[in-house]
Amino acid sequence: MLCAKDIRKNYKTSAGCLQVLKKIDLEVKPNEFVAIQGPSGAGKSTLLHILGGLDMPSCGSVHFEGKDVYGLSENERAIFRNRNVGFVFQFYHLLSELSVLENVLLPSLIQSWWERKRARIRAVSLLEKLQLTERTHYKAGVLSGGEMQRVAIARALINEPRLLLCDEPTGNLDSENGNRILQLLRQLRQDNNVTLVLVTHDQNICMSADRVVHIKDGVLLN
Ligand SMILES: Nc1ncnc2c1ncn2[C@@H]1O[C@H](COP(=O)(O)OP(=O)(O)O)[C@@H](O)[C@H]1O
Ligand SMILES: [Mg+2]
Repeated sequence: MLCAKDIRKNYKTSAGCLQVLKKIDLEVKPNEFVAIQGPSGAGKSTLLHILGGLDMPSCGSVHFEGKDVYGLSENERAIFRNRNVGFVFQFYHLLSELSVLENVLLPSLIQSWWERKRARIRAVSLLEKLQLTERTHYKAGVLSGGEMQRVAIARALINEPRLLLCDEPTGNLDSENGNRILQLLRQLRQDNNVTLVLVTHDQNICMSADRVVHIKDGVLLN
């Protein structure tokens, strides 16, 4: 489903060129569940952004079902992401002045009237699954870290993505909420055929994954 080849990413900094990803090859099969682990600063978030079509690599390619993601124009890539990829950011990136419901519905706004109507129904059910019903009309900015994390997960799922990329999705959750997220991910995979790539330190999640890959100093270890 997803094929990343020879991915490199460099940043120019005042101290010179920082090589964050050095030569990464990663293939993910349809419906596979892959966990990515590695120390802080290893390049996990950078890699996940590149896999999701959010950040162009300095070198290399990402193919999604044979389609060259970075061969698309920015507009085409935005539409591609909106239709196919759900992304849970490490730092959520919610709009603090919008309500929980409005945040969750954001990715559905560019879709047709009919799709938006369906999305509203789905949002209510996702918020219920994530124990957020009582927060539906709260502004996102007043939520706790764990609540924000769950809103970010609901937003990532609103367009029923086939590929879900999550950056430490249980990092701010207690074990009960963490387990609930894990159940939800498993269910999405089983019932909706979703492919999962997660950056995580959570051993429970790693045990449920088909494969755990380790990244260190910008290189995949296996
Ligand atoms: N936009 C950027 N400009 C310069 N350096 C960056 C930028 N984004 C990330 N980095 C650096 O790249 C390295 C990897 O970052 P990141 O992918 O966030 O690591 P991880 O998610 O594994 O903790 C870090 O050293 C970070 O400081
Ligand atoms: Mg990170």
